Amino acid sequence: MKKLLALVLTGVLGVSVLTACGSSSSAPSAAAETASTEAAAASTETASASGSALDKDTLIIGTNAAFPPFEYAGDDGTPAGFDIDLINAIGEKLGKKVEVKDMEFDSLVASIGNKIDIAIAGMTVTEERQKMVDFSDPYYEAVQNVIVVNGSEIASADDLKNKKIGVQLGTTGDFIASDIEGSEVSQYNKAVDAVNDLLNGRVDCVIIDANPAQEFVSQHAEELTALEGTQFGFETENYAIAMPKGDAALVEAVNQALKELKEDGTFDKLVAENITGE
Ligand code: ARG
Repeated sequence: MKKLLALVLTGVLGVSVLTACGSSSSAPSAAAETASTEAAAASTETASASGSALDKDTLIIGTNAAFPPFEYAGDDGTPAGFDIDLINAIGEKLGKKVEVKDMEFDSLVASIGNKIDIAIAGMTVTEERQKMVDFSDPYYEAVQNVIVVNGSEIASADDLKNKKIGVQLGTTGDFIASDIEGSEVSQYNKAVDAVNDLLNGRVDCVIIDANPAQEFVSQHAEELTALEGTQFGFETENYAIAMPKGDAALVEAVNQALKELKEDGTFDKLVAENITGE
């Protein structure tokens, strides 16, 4: 595969050199320019491939195991859930051991490439994050929900203005809440603490991803309701796996594994087991 790519690139260079020589103008031709960009891309690829996390036997995975059903503390206290099953299946495809570390969600992105190789944490692809890390292909679609106490008057985007809103620190729910006019945002390291403060009346609502919202609400069905984010104009989000910026070899391998897991039915099986229920 690599060899083939190298041959193709050499071919492109060969052609462009000819084009450049044949051109009477001293300015580089468009083709030559393309070729040099491609050659540069190829050399960065080689450079990052030599330092790729793929060279290791064990991949260190960061997560924040307080986000059911994607990740939570399993029976033995170690992280369990959809994302954990998924990254284990990916590790198996890549022939790597995976070691999962539970961390604060807010420190995951900055830890990629130093403390951890990969983060999987129901993490939404955002432009800000893309400046710091590379993402795999998206694997799950999500939207924020608004958790309220039963009987709350909150029902539309306008109702969220000037409210006390609980969120998990550094999440897209946090970013949305902070942008709402007059909002007073309480940021928690664990989403469940935001939910507890909603039960205690310290916040008026909690903005959090749909699936965890439904999980938290199901534990307090008498008191809480999760409202669909679409009713507040929230946009669809995509979860993806975050990796060190520039580790193209790792991104490619993870995407390939993800694709295979989708094709062979494993992905759907994990969704059924962890999220939708069989
Ligand atoms: N999808 C949201 C985000 O990316 C929340 C993710 C929180 N994940 C977690 N494991 N606590 O900001």
